[in-house]
Amino acid sequence: MVPVPRRVSARSRASASPELPGPDWVLAGRGLVDGHLQPIEIGISDDGTIVALGRDLHAPERHDVGESVVLPSATDLHVHFRDPGGPADVENFAAGTIEAALGGVGLVADMPNTRPAVTDASRLEEKRARVTGRTAVDVLLYGALTATSRVDQLAMAAGALKLYLSPTTGVERPPTRAEIPGLLQRAAASGLPLTVHAEDPAQFVLEPPPTSLSDWDRARPWTAEAAAVEEVIAAAPRELRLHFAHVTSARIAERIAKAGHSFEASPHHLLLSRASKVGPRAKVNPPLRSEGERAHLWELFALGGIPCLASDHAPHAASAKDVAFPLAPSGMPNVETMLPLLLAKVRAGELDLARLTAAAMDRPSRWIGQPRGRIALGHRADLLVVDFRSRRKITAGDLHAPCGWTAFEGYEGIFPREHYRAGERIVLAGEYIGTPTGVVRRPEFAA
Ligand code: NCD
Ligand code: ZN
Repeated sequence: MVPVPRRVSARSRASASPELPGPDWVLAGRGLVDGHLQPIEIGISDDGTIVALGRDLHAPERHDVGESVVLPSATDLHVHFRDPGGPADVENFAAGTIEAALGGVGLVADMPNTRPAVTDASRLEEKRARVTGRTAVDVLLYGALTATSRVDQLAMAAGALKLYLSPTTGVERPPTRAEIPGLLQRAAASGLPLTVHAEDPAQFVLEPPPTSLSDWDRARPWTAEAAAVEEVIAAAPRELRLHFAHVTSARIAERIAKAGHSFEASPHHLLLSRASKVGPRAKVNPPLRSEGERAHLWELFALGGIPCLASDHAPHAASAKDVAFPLAPSGMPNVETMLPLLLAKVRAGELDLARLTAAAMDRPSRWIGQPRGRIALGHRADLLVVDFRSRRKITAGDLHAPCGWTAFEGYEGIFPREHYRAGERIVLAGEYIGTPTGVVRRPEFAA
């Protein structure tokens, strides 16, 4: 289409900026206005920008989704797409970003514990080449903050930094306690946001080898998480933009909130406990906690006390997981199911939609310096259409992760019916119909 600027009709009761062109088409449905679902119309220009909001908008084309709800697409701050290094038949950028698109996620932040790990600019470039033009949604790339990584180089190219304080998949030797303040200083000097995997390995009890989810919780207890969080808070320079990954306990969440830092909770810690019958497939770092701890974390999330939701999508082959507990790697897939699981909780009346959109869309986008996650004038039209009546039982056969399994088998999910990326439809009737045009994003903080 030729991008001919059109004025918004004088009859329109709409907000539109005089600098923006008129809409080429209008998406009409219901949306959150002042925390309540109301009819909304979104005017979208030919270049995929939201240029008008209101009622009775005029444009050459109109798509009315009736009672369905239009939401911004989600930003997932925590995925492991295993690319490069694979195994590619477990996960890779092309497949992982299609899962994201189908799950309503429009931007993913990919972790650096790939093979090889992203520790300098050349590794970052190698990863960038695997994203550009090959992914269904945009990607932000983490660099690894280690004693030997080239943070000066990463600062020029990475989207954020990740610090692992304990051994986990792809991380054998975490920094010593004495190294932590220096690493936090380097992160602050880089100007990049920093996400910390906070567990203190000095508090792990790994002998005798844990053989169940309950053992795993006792082996890497919440107190190990609390100790690492305290240590990082105490050593963090004021100017550091700090975020804690996968918080498992309401007490720790409240502590981080009090210190004024950002943090996330993951769907498995909100919805599953160590009582899960899934065995080693539900082995994750940090571990699933008790049912009581899970219930407290959920309660805090439902009250709006947890700023961000992030999947910690960390797939492993079923053959690697279905072994004796001590031998199984930690991590489970989640990027396609995160939002559908939580949308089902909204429908069940257990979660407020405005709180979910704050945690899954708005706050993660702000933390990572991306102008997205809200339906606002001048934002890119990255939007979802959700029909709350179309619930379905989650089953691995319907999902798209090459690893082929989910710990949420049988759980209710509400998957977006449509997903728009810059005004282009990439998901229709729950099927991916897009082309791989994803780009690598970096933070855009106001100076
Ligand atoms: C992650 C993985 O497999 O890469 N595993 C996990 O249990 N979350 C690593 C990590 O984030 O700890
Ligand atoms: Zn992770």
